[in-house]
Amino acid sequence: MMFFLVGYMGSGKSVIGNKLAEILKYDFIDLDEYIVQKEGITIKKIFDKKGEIYFRKIENLYFKELIGSKNTVVSLGGGTPCYGNNMNLILESENSLSIYLKASIGTLVDRLYEEKSKRPLIAHLESKSQLTEFIGKHIFERAPFYEQSSLIIKTDGLMVKEVVDKLVLKL
Ligand code: S3P
Repeated sequence: MMFFLVGYMGSGKSVIGNKLAEILKYDFIDLDEYIVQKEGITIKKIFDKKGEIYFRKIENLYFKELIGSKNTVVSLGGGTPCYGNNMNLILESENSLSIYLKASIGTLVDRLYEEKSKRPLIAHLESKSQLTEFIGKHIFERAPFYEQSSLIIKTDGLMVKEVVDKLVLKL
C-alpha cells in the first residue's frame, strides 16, 4: 500500500508523513528531499539556476519513479498534484490512497512566514499581508486538485499528534 500526502506548502506533509510511516512501519519518502538527493542541489538552487518549468519536469519524472512503491508514505511537494497529469496518476495508481492536509490561509501564513526563505515561490514576499494575498490566490488555483484526494483532513488548530490520530482513525 502507498499513501500520498497532498497539500499546500506548510500544511505539514513532511512531518505528518514521517509520523504516519513510523506508526505503520512503512518507508517514508519526501519528494522534495528525493529530488535534492538525486540532483545533488537544493530546490531553491534548481529554481534559481534552471527555472520553475525545469523543476516541474524533474518533479514529474521523480514522482513517477515512486509510483508503485510498496509499504511507503510519500509526501509530495505543494505543487506536485497541480501540474501535468500528476493528480490523475495519483488517483489511478493501484493500492494507494491520497490524503489532503487542509489548512486555512491564516494558518498557512503563520507557519510559512518564518520559513519562507527556503521556498522559492514565496521567498520574495516581505509582509504577512503580501503572503496572505499570494497564498489566497494560489490556493484558489490549486484547491480543485487537492480536493480530489480520497481523504481530506482539516488540520487547523491541531497539533501534529492530533492530526496523525485523526488520520489514522480514518484509514
Ligand atoms: C512547491 C512546494 C515545495 C517545493 C517547491 C514548490 C509548490 O514543497 O516542491 O518549492 O509549488 O508549492 P513543499 O510543499 O514541501 O514546501
